[in-house]
Amino acid sequence: MNIEVRYYSKSGNTKKIANAIAKQVGVSAKSIHEPIQGEIDVLFLGTGIYAFDIDPELKEYISNLNPANIKMVVVFSTAAIVKSAYEKAKKCLQDQGLTVSNAEYHCPGHYMILRKGRPNADDLKNAEQFAKSLINSL
Ligand SMILES: Cc1cc2nc3c(=O)[nH]c(=O)nc-3n(C[C@H](O)[C@H](O)[C@H](O)COP(=O)(O)O)c2cc1C
Repeated sequence: MNIEVRYYSKSGNTKKIANAIAKQVGVSAKSIHEPIQGEIDVLFLGTGIYAFDIDPELKEYISNLNPANIKMVVVFSTAAIVKSAYEKAKKCLQDQGLTVSNAEYHCPGHYMILRKGRPNADDLKNAEQFAKSLINSL
């Protein structure tokens, strides 16, 4: 199975989750600045939330993904207040013709005085468990 992990991360919180997921599925996590090559079975795509939305740069990235080469996208996210980036990301991904998994992973991410220490060790462990269960379910 061809699996890729890409993330958009301004301050490193989502990158930590991306690395945990990537380790679990045996690949390296890369930023969205590294292009996807070939045919992918599962693309884990992660982001933080900025001003209650996903970043315009991530939207642009999604609008350049080729749905013919990616069977399914699995969204993961971190945020200080918002409960998930899933719906925002899903809309952009579906508008691009991509199939989005119903399963998502989200945990709090540190921002200023909020959510200090997150993601923590448990968040990383839960992300690994999420990725393992998801891949095993396919
Ligand atoms: C410029 C900026 C704007 C943010 N706006 C929000 C927001 O509107 N809602 C929220 O829940 N978190 C907000 N956050 C917090 C981030 O979503 C949180 O820190 C997240 O973990 C960042 O992920 P990253 O470190 O991968 O960039 C904001 C963070 C930054 C830097």
